[in-house]
Amino acid sequence: MNEYLKHDEWCIIEEGFNPENHQSSESIFSLGNGNMGQRAMFEEAYSGKTLQGTYIAGVYYPDKTRVGWWKNGYPEYFAKVLNAPNWIGIDVKINGEMLDLAKCKLSEFVRTLNMKEGVLKRSFIATMSNGNQVKVEGKRFLSIVTSEVGVIRYSVTALNFDGKISFNSYIDADVKNEDSNYDEKFWDVLNAKSITGEAYITARTKKLDFHVCMGMKYDLYKDDKKQTVVPSLIEEEKYVSNTVVVDICQGEEVVIYKYASVLSSLNHSKTEIMNDAEKVVSEAHQKGYDSLLNEHVAAWADKWANSDITIEGDVAAQQAIRFNIFQLNQTYTGEDERLNIGPKGFTGEKYGGSTYWDTEAYCVPFYLSTSRPEVTRNLLVYRHKQLQKAIENAEKLGFNSGAALYPMVTMNGEECHNEWEITFEEIHRNGAIAFAIYNYIRHTDDKAYLAEYGLDVLVGISRFWSQRVTYSTAKKKYVMLGVTGPNEYENNVNNNWYTNTIACWCMSYTQEAFKYVKESNPVRYEEIMKNLNFDFDQETSRWNDILENMHFPMDEETGVFMQQDGFMDKEQLTASDLDPQFRPINQFWSWDRILRSCFIKQADVLQGIYLFEENYDMETIKKNYNFYEPRTLHESSLSPCIHSILASKIGDIDSAYEMYLRTSRLDLDDYNREAHEGLHITSMAGTWMSIVEGFGGMRVVNGQLSLKPLIPEKWKSYSFKVRFRGNLVNVRVSEEGVGVINEEGEDISIFIVDDEYVIEKSSSLVIEHA
Ligand code: BGC
Repeated sequence: MNEYLKHDEWCIIEEGFNPENHQSSESIFSLGNGNMGQRAMFEEAYSGKTLQGTYIAGVYYPDKTRVGWWKNGYPEYFAKVLNAPNWIGIDVKINGEMLDLAKCKLSEFVRTLNMKEGVLKRSFIATMSNGNQVKVEGKRFLSIVTSEVGVIRYSVTALNFDGKISFNSYIDADVKNEDSNYDEKFWDVLNAKSITGEAYITARTKKLDFHVCMGMKYDLYKDDKKQTVVPSLIEEEKYVSNTVVVDICQGEEVVIYKYASVLSSLNHSKTEIMNDAEKVVSEAHQKGYDSLLNEHVAAWADKWANSDITIEGDVAAQQAIRFNIFQLNQTYTGEDERLNIGPKGFTGEKYGGSTYWDTEAYCVPFYLSTSRPEVTRNLLVYRHKQLQKAIENAEKLGFNSGAALYPMVTMNGEECHNEWEITFEEIHRNGAIAFAIYNYIRHTDDKAYLAEYGLDVLVGISRFWSQRVTYSTAKKKYVMLGVTGPNEYENNVNNNWYTNTIACWCMSYTQEAFKYVKESNPVRYEEIMKNLNFDFDQETSRWNDILENMHFPMDEETGVFMQQDGFMDKEQLTASDLDPQFRPINQFWSWDRILRSCFIKQADVLQGIYLFEENYDMETIKKNYNFYEPRTLHESSLSPCIHSILASKIGDIDSAYEMYLRTSRLDLDDYNREAHEGLHITSMAGTWMSIVEGFGGMRVVNGQLSLKPLIPEKWKSYSFKVRFRGNLVNVRVSEEGVGVINEEGEDISIFIVDDEYVIEKSSSLVIEHA
């Protein structure tokens, strides 16, 4: 733990500068707008430790992999979102001396991330080696209205001297990824141009030839009066800048406004990209800082109006949930179906910015409830577009006839992961992709999605499962051999209960989907059957045989679902038997020891119970929770939220709250001392789930919204909003009861605890002691 940030309801605040925390703060104070993002590095020079990170959604590099022992089927490359040219840089010289926070004396340093407005601020007083003192204030934001624009307001006030201040405002394309496998740089610069008042760089990525152009313009003001200063220009191969020098007297403030455009060939023609960057930056410049800021703040207000969660009586929890929601909204805005959500978003390089099952299993529920349906739809369409690649991926592993295995890690549909036990065996990810389709439809009622895109994906996935099982003549059952479940502390196990469960569910749901499309859209049905070459009777009779005869490991004595065959042969210990100083165990134990132990990295059987809760009675849920929770180490950030939801379900509110806290402040309090690598963006959606699905008990039951609210003892009240089939429902839970407002849409009928209530449009309902 490292609790150096102040608690506040809307802001993240760091007071005083400790270089030891700087890289964590660079992650925590990150900005993003769905189209691009960046760590909170400084505008001015900084010679201390920093991880410079500027990322553009969808621009990546296929870095050649490093593996110890090559295995057939491994991918050739690992895709990485690239650290892109840095456009925020402003070198500041005070009477010829470079302002560098690692070298001057600092006081009154405050860094603030205003989450309500989406603005990063910094202020400090610096004393230079010659005694000159300046007060500096910086503000920047990445517009969520014009997502190719970033803006900085940077001001310097001379506190105790008269002299000269110079600002060198630059774009630097000489950047590299820290995680480059062979220490290569991934960019070639095509064009660099610096003219009076503006500068541009176009760079292309090696291998895939993505083009990116960054442009900048600026204005200079002294005590609110615009200054016209002739700049000196630098135009080097990978670096362009304008330097302006101004006279300053004690007490005067000089402000530079820097406007940047950040364009990529995903959205612009390569031949026009520099012209377009000029246009975008000129428009931003013309609009001016205040207008850009105002429209940006208004757009954030709209986002918050739909997605905020309020918590009364617990500032730390309030700050944390807003931080999680803010980061999710910065990472993915759902306008572009080519984009997805990397586990670290735009805040660091770990996991390469690629897509994992995290998106479907964790992020989809968040976006379903807090955004327009198209936002989640685009996440589903992303996978639909990659179906052919998933089929090729399965073919590489020996499957056929349209069986699809979606990759564990991907950028464009091709597998990027290269550890056999995950790449080939952690196949449960396929199930999450099918489940997300079901989840989307039950939430939005957009059943037409099945005919348009969904069914193709479901068939590919079901075909994979039907080929992946083996019929065991010994057991007279179908079995699934050699898999890794969500718990990655077990590899190459037989009959992971979760994987077998989700595989069967997929084959059953695909049949329901067929039925629906046949009835609602017979023409499209015929077309799909033909395109997929689907022999309905033959294929579904095999699926049904598997459904009826699948082996699900179970411990007769405890009545608990077994995580996999043979789980009870392990020495049965619990997390409390471990010495906390040797946690996380993956940093202290050999892999062999981990594999032989009963310790569980993350929700596995419980992940299945969470997804298919309606199939199990309360006693079964309790039994399994009580068995698995003590053995689970939660060494993946994706884990505590699922346990928290189930703890709420079984009425263990204290455990639910304890696990909620662990996920919600994971990065803010740097529980695992790894915030410097980037934030746990995808598990932030899990934090949201632990409030809404956990404490709020929100479910969709038979097509209707249902709530079973509980409230942690420490809270006076909490509220959240859920978009559901055209309605926007605002739920407030307090010690006294539950209030529900039907804010948007027609009349809605909702189950609260066990009773059904109709809430007319624009009206509300209050139930005391629900
Ligand atoms: C987890 C996976 C997850 C990945 C990316 C791993 O530590 O075990 O379930 O997909 O991180 O978040």
